[in-house]
Order: sequence, then structure tokens, then C-alpha cells
Amino acid sequence: MIEARNLWKRYGDNVVLERINMTVAEGEFITMVGTSGCGKSTFLKMLLGTESPSSGELLLDGKPIPAEPGPDRGIVFQQYSVFPHMTVLQNVMAAKAFARNGISGYLFGNARIRAREEARTLLEQVGLGHALERYPHELSGGMKQRLALAQALLGRPRILLLDEPFGALDPGIRADMHELVLELWREHQLTVFMVTHDLKEGFYLGTRLWVFDKLRADPQAPNAYGASITYDLPVGKLDRATYEEIDDNLRPVGNG
Ligand SMILES: Nc1ncnc2c1ncn2[C@@H]1O[C@H](COP(=O)(O)OP(=O)(O)O)[C@@H](O)[C@H]1O
Ligand SMILES: [Mg+2]
Repeated sequence: MIEARNLWKRYGDNVVLERINMTVAEGEFITMVGTSGCGKSTFLKMLLGTESPSSGELLLDGKPIPAEPGPDRGIVFQQYSVFPHMTVLQNVMAAKAFARNGISGYLFGNARIRAREEARTLLEQVGLGHALERYPHELSGGMKQRLALAQALLGRPRILLLDEPFGALDPGIRADMHELVLELWREHQLTVFMVTHDLKEGFYLGTRLWVFDKLRADPQAPNAYGASITYDLPVGKLDRATYEEIDDNLRPVGNG
């Protein structure tokens, strides 16, 4: 479904990514780790279409990824911004209207009714069915990320991009979000790319774990070389079961 062929990304003299080669099949759940600043977010942005490769190719179904975000790709960031004056339901509907009609978008008539139903269904799926009329300042961090997931899923994407989405959440809440994201991955038949700074999270959630790192470095010129995918590890079922056992033991009693 997705393929990179000798993909490079530079900002001026700063080589961020170099020689990325990979193929990803539909339905995989890729987790990505690497030191801060090594280009993980940049890589996600190229998949989203807000950044383009400096050289090489990044293909979706054999064609270059369009140079703009599309409904087939949804993204969730660590810090989420919403319209503070709109309720949860209104925020999701606004996202739908923008996706459909651009920034001036507004839905009328049947389109509006359908959008409301779709938004409700998605919000129930992410566990916000009870919070449709709440305003963003009334939501916890975990609820905000649930809202972000609902918005990302609105265009019925095939690809879900997650950029450290749970990094700011408490461990108990994060465990609940893990179960949610696995459920959404299965039910929506998504191909997921998720950046995390938590290796355990990466092993637990992914079917495949990538490590981004520099293969070569010049101390005199730190920007001269970029990061590549230095490890590409299948995550076995055994690893996951083992982790699950550990995670259950770590989970505070009475939480989740
Ligand atoms: N729009 C941009 N213009 C110039 N440099 C950028 C831009 N975006 C990211 N960078 C640089 O690219 C490098 C990788 O950034 P990023 O992808 O955010 O890393 P990570 O997500 O792995 O922490 C950093 O050196 C950063 O300064
Ligand atoms: Mg980043």
C-alpha cells in the first residue's frame, strides 16, 4: 500500500531523513521511535501530504502521495486544538464541513443531518457519547484525545497517523487509550503509523516497530547526515502477550 524508495528530506543544509526504503501492507500498525529531532514528525507529515520529499519517492497505491492532506489520511497530534466556543458534537461536525467544503464550509439540509449522525456514531465509538454537549474546557486530556481521534476518523481514512498522541496523558488513561486505538484500528480496518517516545507502548501497539537513527554522523557538521530506519522489527504475538501481563500488573487497582 505504501512504499518509500530512497526517500530523502532536507531543510536547506539540514539533512533530516536519508535513504528511507520500506514497504507497508494495508492493515499494518507501524510504531516509530527515535531521538527527539530525528525526523519522525517530518516523516508523518510527508505521509499526510503537508511536506513533500526532497528526493526519492513516497508512494500510496503505487502513486506519489498527493501534496495536500486528503480524507483518506487522518492525523492526531499530542497537543490538540479545538474551537473553544463549540461543543464536542459541533467540533466534529465543523471538521466534517471543512473536509467537505474547505474553510468556509457549512453543511445544510440532509448533508447536515447525515454529518450529525456520523459524528454521533464516531463520538460514541471513541467513548464520548455522554459528552456531546460539553465544551472543550470541560474535557480531560484523555477526552480531548478521544475527540481528536473522532475527528481524524471522520473522512473514513484508510491511514491513521498518530504523532505521540498519548504522550501527555497519565499512565492509567494511556492504557485505556491503547485499548481504544487497537479497537479503532480493527473496526475501521486502518493502516496506522504511530510515533511514540515510549518503547513499551511501541511494542505493545505495533505489528511492526521502526527505529529512526543516523547511520553516520560528522561531529563537525551535525546536519550533514539524516536519519534512516535502522531497525524494522516484526512484533510477535508472544511479545504482546508478555507485555500485556506486565501492563496488567502495573495498572493501578480500580483504574480502568
Ligand atoms: N518546517 C521546517 N523547516 C525547517 N526545519 C524543520 C521544519 N520542520 C522540521 N524541521 C527540522 O527537522 C528536524 C526533524 O524535526 P521533527 O521531524 O520534528 O523531529 P522529531 O519529530 O523526530 O522530533 C529538526 O531538526 C527540525 O528542526
Ligand atoms: Mg515530533
